[in-house]
Amino acid sequence: MTSGKTRVCGVMAYPVEHSMSPLMHNYFAERSGVDLAYVPFKVKPEAVGEAVGGAFALNVLGMNVTVPHKQAVMEHLVEIDEAALAIGAVNTLVRMEDGYKGYNTDAAGLLRTMKETGIQIKDQTCILLGAGGAAKAAAYVLAREGTKKVYLLNRNVERAEQLAKYMNGLFGREVLIPMALDRWNEIPEDGCLAVQSTSVGMHPNVDAAVIEDEAFYRKLSTAFDIVYTPMETRFMKLAAAAGAKTKNGLDMLLYQGVIAFELWNPDVTVSPETIDGARQLVMDFLAHKK
Ligand code: ATR
Repeated sequence: MTSGKTRVCGVMAYPVEHSMSPLMHNYFAERSGVDLAYVPFKVKPEAVGEAVGGAFALNVLGMNVTVPHKQAVMEHLVEIDEAALAIGAVNTLVRMEDGYKGYNTDAAGLLRTMKETGIQIKDQTCILLGAGGAAKAAAYVLAREGTKKVYLLNRNVERAEQLAKYMNGLFGREVLIPMALDRWNEIPEDGCLAVQSTSVGMHPNVDAAVIEDEAFYRKLSTAFDIVYTPMETRFMKLAAAAGAKTKNGLDMLLYQGVIAFELWNPDVTVSPETIDGARQLVMDFLAHKK
């Protein structure tokens, strides 16, 4: 039930119809006893500034921002959190006195998932697959959490080189080592933590993985795929067959939501039971959609 006191949050995207955020956040609100309604906002690229201004005028408490607005929204904010600024993408807006502050809870969600899963980053040798937006957030998290080094593998090696140059400059150490995807066999170490941050293997192309060779997967102790449709990607299957621990991106999705919800409601901690309930809700939704 909404009333005159109900706070409004939402997600702006284009398109927005596929978003699972309304499902997730309305569940968090209900289970946490917060009087909050979360709605989808379909915002065209040319209307991002107007949408942010309009949301503020309408007393909207907070927003999620997703494709294709994560960069474009940044110039319309009064403040940007350090991590979001470094990654160059904002996915959460939090209402302040005079406008919105931008955060990147995708990165925070990845870190929280790693912590909750017992995946260690510090002093680990990592392999990051991909050099797009998702990879940038992952590279930032790995570097900031003290990874020993990250082999950054991408099909387009120039893109890997650009990302490595940027992050290495930011952290003041040669933490990212860019490589072409097909040169993975030049990585000397075993026992690596791999983060798969490309869209390869995502539904409906479930039979694809960025690297097929079994020998690659024998280098891994843990394989994290940011993809969660399907729940077990081909990348995860290959890694598991080679004896690595695997994790999909579903918890990253959940935790980016939890962290955003807690930013909007600083007095609220989303309980583990509520997070479990939301995970089931999202899994049921995905199974139903299929
Ligand atoms: P996102 O914001 O989701 O990360 P993106 O910025 O478009 O999306 O990045 C997509 C990533 O997936 C890139 O690393 C891309 O590799 P290229 O830079 O070489 O294009 C990678 N990718 C997409 N399709 C791929 C494929 N078939 N094989 C290998 N890599 C692929």
